[in-house]
Amino acid sequence: MTTKRKNVAIVCGGDSGEYEISVQSGNVVSKFLDKEKFQPFLIYIKGKDWFFKPSEDSTINIDKNDFSLTIDGEKTVFDVVFNALHGTPGEDGKLLGYLDMIGIPYTSSNHIVSALTFNKDFCKQVVKSVGVALADSVLLRRGQSFKAHEVVSELGLPLFVKPNSNGSSVGVSKVNSEKELKPALEKAFKEDEYALIESFIKGREIGCGVFEFKGRMMVLPITEIISKNEFFDYDAKYTKGKSDEITPADVDEDIDLEIKALAAQLYNRIGCRGFVRFDFILTDEDIYFLEVNTVPGMSAASIIPQQAEVMGISLSDFFGMAIENVI
Ligand SMILES: Nc1ncnc2c1ncn2[C@@H]1O[C@H](COP(=O)(O)OP(=O)(O)O)[C@@H](O)[C@H]1O
Ligand SMILES: [Mg+2]
Repeated sequence: MTTKRKNVAIVCGGDSGEYEISVQSGNVVSKFLDKEKFQPFLIYIKGKDWFFKPSEDSTINIDKNDFSLTIDGEKTVFDVVFNALHGTPGEDGKLLGYLDMIGIPYTSSNHIVSALTFNKDFCKQVVKSVGVALADSVLLRRGQSFKAHEVVSELGLPLFVKPNSNGSSVGVSKVNSEKELKPALEKAFKEDEYALIESFIKGREIGCGVFEFKGRMMVLPITEIISKNEFFDYDAKYTKGKSDEITPADVDEDIDLEIKALAAQLYNRIGCRGFVRFDFILTDEDIYFLEVNTVPGMSAASIIPQQAEVMGISLSDFFGMAIENVI
């Protein structure tokens, strides 16, 4: 007996500066999904335009009543959504709430967890409750008055300024002097209504992928990210040669285990689903939580695919497991 292939909508694009990266992630997922088990459809989401591209110059719109696609009179309904949409509306919960309402399973964390983790300040409050080290921070709303010297005297220099809800380092600045604070905030406010100002944590940047597959926790080998720029900015993330990513990271075994245990603990505490990447900064004293990505990059340059490879899991198996985990 042959089982029918599952129809998989790989959602990508979105409404943030991560559009292009998400399209790359979506293409990688589409390319590597096992075609004997799954039939992939890459679905672009941009504002109200949700569509499939059967060829370069044609598009077919999704029917938002049931997220279906009608091609040449034949209707396709999806068994599952593979979430490759970084940023809004894929990573902040909006699209996921809609999918819950119409009853289509998806590979990533649910809408509440996504909304929480996409808001860096809210997420830090939950992480704090577990007793994990965090950078001190100040949250500002667009238009709110502030005194640069007070912020600097509270948090010190350098500072990091970032949109409270965003990704790929879009709108993130390292601030080395008091006078750089205002322009950095203006840049962050272009991306979001809230900006998070954080004290600088000097240390080694570590990414740790976690994936609970059918009740079994898998923690991937950890990666050290060594940026050749001043920090892991957009350019360093996506330009070949601008950062070294070392997997497994060269750290003592006890530290390696501590980071992995912490990532697994946070995954459980937050209630994540699917594969997630926790980012930490390792200092001489502590492991600082930086952020968690619930729709981590899946492009060739991304960290999770590198970690899966080192663990000996092919991308086909890895993506297949993400789907089989929820259907
Ligand atoms: N408090 C901090 N101390 C040191 N480096 C930081 C800090 N915050 C951010 N960075 C640097 O900026 C990068 C982007 O910040 P991050 O919070 O991860 O935002 P994004 O969601 O855009 O990836 C990090 O990968 C790191 O290199
Ligand atoms: Mg980050």
